[in-house]
Amino acid sequence: MTFELLHTDSSCKARLGRIYTDHGTIETPIFMPVGTAGTVKAVHFRELHKDIQAEIILGNTYHLYLRPGLEILQNAGGLHKFGGWNKPILTDSGGYQVYSLAENRKITDEGVKFKSHIDGSYHFFTPENVMDIQRVIGADIIMAFDECPPYPCEYSYAKKSLMLTHKWLKRCCERVDNTTGLYGYSQALFPIVQGGVFKDLRQESAEFIASLKREGNAIGGLAVGEPAEKMYEITEFVCDILPADKPRYLMGVGTPANILESIALGVDMFDCVMPTRNARNGMLFTTQGIINIRNEKWKNDFSPIDEVLGGEVSGFYTKAYLRHLMISKEILASQIASIQNLRFYLWLVREARKHIAENNFLQWKNKIIPQIMQKL
Ligand code: GUN
Repeated sequence: MTFELLHTDSSCKARLGRIYTDHGTIETPIFMPVGTAGTVKAVHFRELHKDIQAEIILGNTYHLYLRPGLEILQNAGGLHKFGGWNKPILTDSGGYQVYSLAENRKITDEGVKFKSHIDGSYHFFTPENVMDIQRVIGADIIMAFDECPPYPCEYSYAKKSLMLTHKWLKRCCERVDNTTGLYGYSQALFPIVQGGVFKDLRQESAEFIASLKREGNAIGGLAVGEPAEKMYEITEFVCDILPADKPRYLMGVGTPANILESIALGVDMFDCVMPTRNARNGMLFTTQGIINIRNEKWKNDFSPIDEVLGGEVSGFYTKAYLRHLMISKEILASQIASIQNLRFYLWLVREARKHIAENNFLQWKNKIIPQIMQKL
């Protein structure tokens, strides 16, 4: 994997770049739809390619390891072949999922013992076996095994956790550097900056991670309940330390406004369950604002869901029809709403790239945020 920094906006720190992988090129800034269990919920790959124009999707080590499991994934020839998605894939390491298990995990220096949410069986993740698992899954970009401390969190805990994340990171690098991909293409390891909301810890982490000179770098431990201003402050602080010639990935972020604000601070890659999860609950992101499609208000609105986005879904189905499907708990409701929201997120980053190229990203961002975040 390589990264080419094409341009930096003259009005802020927003960057235009290109990531080259063995499964194709990714224009940055980019949003990566989340496909936890090897599927972006309710969305065909055909629609991800054509309608949504996704360039890379995300999978989860924790979920894929538990189901379908490594044997099936390896027999299939990796996740790309298993499902038929032939563009780039990134897998998260499981560090974050294991952290969400709270009651059902035990962290030691060696790794994390956890209880499966599927059948209650016990498993052990170490930096080494998580790298091996990600080799079997076969994503183009794989993530280091980290610990994501909660918010709020005592300084002493965040420091101890960071030291463990750094120790684990060295073990991840060693494992990746002493093994090769199983399927004939290369896999890049991204380390993850942690340190909670503490600037000295974030500085230590970002400097250590910069010194490793991996192909890209991630910022973790944010969007876990801290105020948005704190998240932006830490994001900017860390971006300024991370190397400019490598992609920067802000993990698990966020709302359309969060994404645009973070692009302005120098972030290149994003993922979030919000567009797909909220779609299934009837919350739509559109170019005109946010819609709760279950609301009475849309009962007799026969206008398309999003005329600006247009196309076979957003420009075809009406708000009244989608409301009817959602209220009736029809499966098609989740499909239409998920396509609309992902179409919107991918449209948003394409527009962002256009405005960075024109050096007017900041002006455009400040104008569009109130429009797309207003509740209709
Ligand atoms: N997804 C969102 N935040 C994080 C994080 O801190 N670590 C990992 N591994 N994944 C994340």
